[in-house]
Amino acid sequence: MHKINLSSHISLLFILLFFSQKNMFAQRNEPLGNVIQTTENDEGFTTKIQNANLRVRVFSPHIIQIQLTKNQNFDDFSYAVIEKPQKTKFSFEENNTEIILKTDEITLKIQKSPARISFLTKNNKILNEDDFGFGTSWLGEEVTTYKKLQEGERFIGLGEKTGNLDRRGSAYTNWNNDDFGYKTNADPLYVSTPFYMGLHHNLAYGIYMDNTAKSHFNFGASNDRFSSFGAENGDMNYYFMHHKDVQEIVKLYTNLTGKMPLPPLWGLGYQQCRWSYTPDTKVINVAKTFREKQIPADVLYLDIDYMQDYKVFTWHKTNFSQPKKMLAELKNMGFKTVTIIDPGVKVEKDYGVYESGKKEDIFVKYPDNTYYTGQVWPGWCHFPDFTMPKARNWWGKQFEGLINDGVNGFWNDMNEIATWGNTLPNLMDFDFEGKKATTRQARNIYGMQMARATYEGTKTRLGKRPLVLTRAGFSGVQRYSAVWTGDNRAEEDHMLAGIRLVNSMGITGLSYVGYDVGGFTGNPTNNLYARWITLGAFTPFFRGHTAINTRPSEPWAFGEDVENIAKNYIQLRYRLLPYIYSHFYESSQNGLPVQRSLTLTNPFESKIYDTRFQNQYLFGQDLLVIPSESTKEFTETYLPTSAGWYDLYEDTYFTSGQEIISKSPLNRLPIYVRAGAILPMQSVVQNTQEKPSEVMDLHIYFGENGNKLVYYEDNGEDYNYEKGDKLERLFEFLPSEKKIVLHESKGSFKSKFTQTRLILHGFEQIKSIKVNGKETSFQKSAWSWLPNLQWGTQIQEVKMTNFPLEKGKITVEWGY
Ligand code: GLC
Repeated sequence: MHKINLSSHISLLFILLFFSQKNMFAQRNEPLGNVIQTTENDEGFTTKIQNANLRVRVFSPHIIQIQLTKNQNFDDFSYAVIEKPQKTKFSFEENNTEIILKTDEITLKIQKSPARISFLTKNNKILNEDDFGFGTSWLGEEVTTYKKLQEGERFIGLGEKTGNLDRRGSAYTNWNNDDFGYKTNADPLYVSTPFYMGLHHNLAYGIYMDNTAKSHFNFGASNDRFSSFGAENGDMNYYFMHHKDVQEIVKLYTNLTGKMPLPPLWGLGYQQCRWSYTPDTKVINVAKTFREKQIPADVLYLDIDYMQDYKVFTWHKTNFSQPKKMLAELKNMGFKTVTIIDPGVKVEKDYGVYESGKKEDIFVKYPDNTYYTGQVWPGWCHFPDFTMPKARNWWGKQFEGLINDGVNGFWNDMNEIATWGNTLPNLMDFDFEGKKATTRQARNIYGMQMARATYEGTKTRLGKRPLVLTRAGFSGVQRYSAVWTGDNRAEEDHMLAGIRLVNSMGITGLSYVGYDVGGFTGNPTNNLYARWITLGAFTPFFRGHTAINTRPSEPWAFGEDVENIAKNYIQLRYRLLPYIYSHFYESSQNGLPVQRSLTLTNPFESKIYDTRFQNQYLFGQDLLVIPSESTKEFTETYLPTSAGWYDLYEDTYFTSGQEIISKSPLNRLPIYVRAGAILPMQSVVQNTQEKPSEVMDLHIYFGENGNKLVYYEDNGEDYNYEKGDKLERLFEFLPSEKKIVLHESKGSFKSKFTQTRLILHGFEQIKSIKVNGKETSFQKSAWSWLPNLQWGTQIQEVKMTNFPLEKGKITVEWGY
């Protein structure tokens, strides 16, 4: 018989333990090592480095991709990046110490020993360089790139992240996360967009790290040496972008990750939500009240209670017993309806969606091939694997019933994936387009792929533009869906934090974005609600929403004064729709956000980062919005450098680059109009299906600088615009020539406007106006932006003239 010697056994155990521990602690930072060999190719070059392989690809003169892997092959797959390298001219040279690649805009230098990467302008100014000690390093599976902090360097972007506009001194994690009633400094939130820009010495660059794993960004937090970005697993794969204009860098980023498709026009109107309007009679009453009170609105939302036992793609049997009838009634009142659809499919025998999902085998699985089961509203659920094409197709089909009933849009929530316990196990298997991955790679991309499945599935079935709204997302989610900032709180600082979130999301390509107006958790005071809804009117996605068990939060629920304020600003929003829709079109073409952080226009002006002014933003190119707490009757304001600014309400002109105090009583959100502004507007309608008057109001604000706006129109509903059924028209303000030119319209769409009323601001000295060479009469008359409110002296004199809005070129000249 074999005898066990206990003491020798124990000592062996200790020795083993010692070595394994030693190994554990021995894992130190492992930088790249030296360059061994480089091979040039059509797109750039590949380099063997001691501890990794590098591939450099030139995407365009402004974009260079850097890929570092420990594998032999370079992975070309991406959920986010849809662009391929464009054929680009570049030069390549190699000597004993360096590899140098030059495009017309960027010089890339790789120092060989040790391998370190730097980017310079074509004039040899440092844009960005590796930290000399660390460069790109591995810590076990975790890969990080360390960049030397440049003197005075600021950082902007990273999308839905709390904190200051300038992210210097802060660090963030990307790991899509459900955070109910999050704090204003919480991180991470629901969406991950690993793209940021660095700004220093009047130079700007952008870095997008294309890795869906949990990632970390450090902008000089707790250190004075580096900024860094890295992922807990996968390759280091980043795109370096440079342009002298920050706006152009946003465009470059959206060339890589895609643009927002044009939303339906009704999606730009006011949208009302609550958790939940139930039963159906309540929904109808809300709709009726909007119409009775003549407060414009376009969309009503049905939150989870419209479903039977929270089972997706069902209707509650008693509370929503005749959905078709209800939806038809809403339609007759000019409302569109959006229903919430969460990813969790209730595990319940004979429930059709569950049975069919099982049959098609589309749910997320554990590695032992059993379905993952997590608990959410309906109880225990399985979750479709949206990274599997077959599952996305299956999902699309599930919408047939709702679409047939008359639902117009779909709201994807809880798609982080959020479950009770908020801990999605890491070990699960995802299809990842057949490439297979675990939760570690799939979690951050799940929400975006759900939104994709919803968008693709409903777009074809509706034959019209759906409104898709998602809470979770990743870079590129703008191609499928609007995004809102989740479960905010009814608090002053949350209102302002939400504005910064939306401003920052705009920098990362998300254009169709907004926050819950009024706050989701808790109860806003009357005043807070009033301020919030006026701000909401100047946000791309404009929706009021509130949680269960909170006070009613429709525009009329806060007393008559607040109702008037809400009505005024919602009406103003509707009057501005021609301006807003034109900006949405622009965004769908070039990726510039509708709500614009001042960093896009004035990136090197330190005042815009001042915490007193950092919430200010542009709504479209010409309106400067000054957010402020509801408690402030006066608000410190910074007017960024431009041609000058007019107070919207009083037409008072201010030179730019100065601090002023704005009046900000509750009924007056401070807004300034850029000198040179071109604002096409319309009459008030109760919803976007109602035709406005045939007269377009075209406001022009005098300024020394010229200005341009591409005015855009189409039927607002379907995809015919892609076939040319649209109207595009360049409006130009040319002060040096004393001219306003409405260039010929392009496209076959017939405008809803037949006449233009020109409203000139700041043209005091005008003596004559000619339209297409013909002397035209004009008059001085009173103008008021908010007819329901009286400020007496604030109503200014302006000059107007009406003329037919023909398709051909129209030139308006003025004389002094
Ligand atoms: C989540 C959403 C919220 C919704 C609620 C009930 O908290 O973020 O908007 O009302 O779920 O569906």
